[in-house]
Order: sequence, then C-alpha cells, then structure tokens
Amino acid sequence: MAISDEDIQKVREATDIVALFGERVPVRQRGRDFWCCCPFHNEKTPSCKIDPSTQLWHCFGCGEGGDVFGFIMKIDDVNFPDAVRSLAERAHIDIKESGRQGVSSSRKQRLRDVCAATEGFYHSQLMRGKSSEAAAARSYLGSRGFGGNVPKKWHLGFAPGRMALVRHLLDKGFTADEMIEANVALAGDNGRLRDRFFNRVMFPINDPQGECIAFGGRVIGQGEPKYLNSQETPLFHKSSVLYGLDKAKGAMTSTGVAIIVEGYTDVIALHESGICNAVATLGTALTLQHIRIISRHASKRIVYLFDGDAAGQRAADRALEFIDESMTPEAGKSRVELCAVTLPDDLDPADFVSQRGGDALRELVDSAKPLISYGIERRLARHDLSSAEGRTRALSDALSVLAPIKSSLLAKDYAIQLAGRLKMREQDVLDALGNLQPPRTYSRSDAPAAQAEADAAPITLSESEKSRRRFERRLISLLAQNPQMALEHIDSLAQTQWHDPANGQLASILLDALEKNPDATPAQIVADASAAVPRAAGALTSATFSDGEDRARTISFLVEELEIGDLEDTLTAMNANMKPDAALDPDEREIMFAAAVELQNTLNAKRAAHKPIV
Ligand code: UTP
Ligand code: MN
Repeated sequence: MAISDEDIQKVREATDIVALFGERVPVRQRGRDFWCCCPFHNEKTPSCKIDPSTQLWHCFGCGEGGDVFGFIMKIDDVNFPDAVRSLAERAHIDIKESGRQGVSSSRKQRLRDVCAATEGFYHSQLMRGKSSEAAAARSYLGSRGFGGNVPKKWHLGFAPGRMALVRHLLDKGFTADEMIEANVALAGDNGRLRDRFFNRVMFPINDPQGECIAFGGRVIGQGEPKYLNSQETPLFHKSSVLYGLDKAKGAMTSTGVAIIVEGYTDVIALHESGICNAVATLGTALTLQHIRIISRHASKRIVYLFDGDAAGQRAADRALEFIDESMTPEAGKSRVELCAVTLPDDLDPADFVSQRGGDALRELVDSAKPLISYGIERRLARHDLSSAEGRTRALSDALSVLAPIKSSLLAKDYAIQLAGRLKMREQDVLDALGNLQPPRTYSRSDAPAAQAEADAAPITLSESEKSRRRFERRLISLLAQNPQMALEHIDSLAQTQWHDPANGQLASILLDALEKNPDATPAQIVADASAAVPRAAGALTSATFSDGEDRARTISFLVEELEIGDLEDTLTAMNANMKPDAALDPDEREIMFAAAVELQNTLNAKRAAHKPIV
C-alpha cells in the first residue's frame, strides 16, 4: 500500500464524520453527540454514537467502532486503501499513490476475470452448444418466454459440466486456486478439479456496475436443488447483492420506486414486460443492507412483492421485522417508504405478468400498502373477526406489529383505526398499545462488546482480575479519545503493569504516538492501533464520560487505581519470596523486609488519598 500518511491525514480532516454517517443512515442529535441505529446489526433504537469532537464512532450494541475509514471499510466492505480512495474522491482530494495495485485488489481482479471468462463460456455453450443437453436448455428457456433476445441481454448460459469449464479456464491460464476461490470449480476427492455447475441454465449475477461476480444455476425442468448459487466469495456477499440492480438502477432513479421480487426469473420477466425497476434477493432474506443499497437509487418507495406461496408468506412475516422508528414522522428526515403486497392465487411475479400482463402488475405494485398496514392486515386475516373472541385475539396479534414504534403518533393512529375495525373502544386499544412490551433489543450485557469480551475473556479470571482489566480498558479507551489528558500521566502509564496484554499493546501505541506528536488526534491513534491490534477500534471507542463528569478526576482515579493494583502485586510477590521456608540469607531477608515495609507505607498512603468518584 502506498498512500502517504500525509494524504491519509488530509482525507481524514476533510471528512466530516457526522455528514458521512448522515449519507448512509438517519442520524439524530442528542446533546453534543449524534446517534444512529447501528448499520452493522439490526436494531430499533439507536445505540451507535458518532462523536464529532473526536471524529470517532462506537456502537454500544455490537461493540464496533472506529474512525471514518473504519466505517467505510465495514459498510462498503472494502480494504483500507480503498476506503481512503473513496473518501478522497468524496472530498475531491487527489492522493498520490506509488506502486498502485495492492495484492488484494489484483487478486480480486483475477477472480473477476475468472467470472467473466466463465460467463462467456457458459453463454457460448447456450447459444451454440451442439449437445442434446444444450438444445434442451435452449428450448426450456424458450418455453418460459425467455427466447429471442433475452439470453443475449441477460447473458444467460448453459453449464455442461464434466470438466468443460475447468478445461476452458485452464487453457486461458487460470489456476485451480483461482477457480475454486471464485467458486466455479471444486476440488474433488481425488484432488482433481470439477466444474461446480453441471447441466444447468446459468444466470450470471452482476455487481451494480454490470460486472459478473457470481452465478445462479437452475435445473432444466424438474430436479433438486432447483437453484444452485455461488457461495460467498471475496467478490460476492449475498446480503448486499441484488440480482438485476445493474439494469434496474436507472429506472429506480428516474421513477423513485424500486420493486423487490424473490426470483431471477421474476426479474427477467418483469424487465421484459417493461417494468425495469425490479431486482431480486438471492434466495436469502432481505437485509437492512439491501434496503440501504436500494434506497440510494429509489428515493420514494420500495415495494416488496411477495410470492403467493407458503415460502413467500414466510418472507412477508420476516419483513415485518423491518418496522422501526425510522418509519414514523417523528424520525423527521424523509425516508424511503417500504411497502408490500402479496401476489394473488399462489402466483409469482413471472407467472403473474405472463398470465395477466404488465399493466396488471403495475396496478398491483401501485396498490402496495406501507409495511405497517400490510403487517396489520396480515395479522387480522388470521382471525375470525365475526366473533368477540376472534376480535380480541386479532387485536393483540395486530398490535404486536406496532410494538417497535409503540410510543409514536403513527402507532396511535393505527391503534385508533384498529379500534374501528374491531368494534372496540379507542381508549381500550390505546391502553393495550401502551402496555405492549417493546421488542427485544440488544442489551449491553449480551452484546459482544469490548466490555463483555473483557468480562468473558478466559473463564478462569477471578472477579478482581476482571475488574482490573475493565479499569485498564476504560482508561486506555478514554485516553485514546482524549490523548492530551494522557500527557499528564505519562510516567505512570509507562510503568503500568498491564494485566491484559492487549491493553499493554494499546497503551504503548498511545504513548509512542504522543511521543512522536504531542498533538496526535484521537482518530490517528485509533487508526495506528487498529493497524496493530485486531478489534482495537471497537475497544478504544468504547468508553465514555457521562455528562458533567469531572474528566481529569476520572482519569486520575483510574491511573491511581492501576498504580495501587501494581503496588499490591509487587508486595504480594515480595511477601511470597520472604516466606519462612524460603532459603534466604538473613541479611537479605532483612533488606527485603525493610523494602516491603516501605512499600506497604506507600500503598497505605496511596489508598488513603484514593477517593472513589461518586
Ligand atoms: P423460486 O422457487 O420462487 O424460484 O425461488 P423462481 O425464481 O421463481 O424460479 P422458477 O420461476 O421456478 O424458475 C426464488 C429464489 O430463491 C432462490 C433463487 O434465488 C430463486 O430465484 N432459490 C430457490 C434457491 O437459491 N435455491 C432453490 O433451490 C430455490
Ligand atoms: Mn418463483
């Protein structure tokens, strides 16, 4: 990697962390700090803090944290140099790079080349293959209405299997490792390479720029599994890839609307009937990441079309988990509206357009309801509303949809509508809403946060050892965020016997940074530390001062706490060396005894002066 520290620093300074988060997630101000729902785990109430003064962020739910580069690395799944490049571009800063093309980016490029060559091979097999299997693939696609120009436009293919692809790729100079890593070949039991896809119609999966990064393969006719998809590779992460996005993004931007369906064939059928803003998830549930990506293109509405079959209905129930406070008017900032509709009569979108046409599908999409009303309707439909008992059960079932937003005006609005539907008193329904348990969210203690990690560390740690390590961690984290406060305690910090080696490493990075530059910023220190210690960013951003806390006093308290602990440890060791059965020269014993007494006095004095902070 060859981006200079100066350039990195320039880009860091030019990037406003609050604005950067604001581009990706809704951010709210609370006091000096800004908060958002953590983009890295599913949560309903914000536990991710963005601190404009240190330019650092930390999620108290999942323990992640770091600086602006760490944020981009995680959210865009890129390496450090790419994160710097992307923020440089955003800030219109030219960075000079010597010896571009790091190992990992050239490796990824090789994998892209494997995918491109594979896509080309499969496509020519479909178009020109002479075998009866290839002919069957062509007629299968034709029978589904995917003849004519469709295979060319979507680069559809046919995988013959039987080493045909492996031989082709070897001829082109690709290695076995590259094929396996791109997941187009497998190592057989005998160590020989095999094609991963055999006798299937192939759907190339592209990145948003239209480059192939993975494949889905369908059996021709009946068979199991119906679809075989690429596994996760360095290029392909199912939770953030949408089939058809490269072709749909233009239409999403111009209409402001996106349609999400479940299958490859649905996407193709919709586009072919003129509905070009459709994408599909890849046999996995919709994730927040997907929604985020789509909402970059579609600014108004995302319509989720659920298949009418049982699997589609399960997907619909899962989607209700996306209901959160960001959908309420209180969230302020206008957000893309998430809507849903179920296809009738067990149909999927492809069947629907082929039987009833594109206009009927457009009408259906327009009739989609906001996810909250959709959810309430689904719940009501499970019950017999003609009986009083049925209505009571329906009420609690439907109200639970509102639990995540129970204190919003929107929830009250829906509750009043529900009262009307169920012929109940408004006040009773509002009371029931008020009594709902909020849904389970991450609590600090069950999250894999740095603190929990320190607590859990080796199970053999005693309570006092755990508490010592907690103090160490808190001190180091506070100092990393307020490095100038460390200057005052530098001697003591340099002598501290860190019990947790990771804390010791972090401390020495902090001290080195301050020695080089007494004005080092928190973000620089966190960046230095993350380069050396895994999880450093999360740990160093984890501690906070509470409002009105006397910061200098807290730091001194923690420093003293560690000093006292170190004195106690030394004293214990000395006492052990002076045990009556220890083979000691009497003079030596006397000297040691005197030293121990002196140490004990120092310790007593320190203890007396050490006042707990209240
Ligand atoms: P569907 O079974 O609805 O497939 O699964 P489909 O796309 O409508 O296919 P056709 O019309 O029957 O050919 C929806 C999606 O779920 C994933 C695929 O991504 C598929 O497009 N899936 C399905 C799998 O990954 N594996 C399977 O075995 C089945
Ligand atoms: Mn389907």
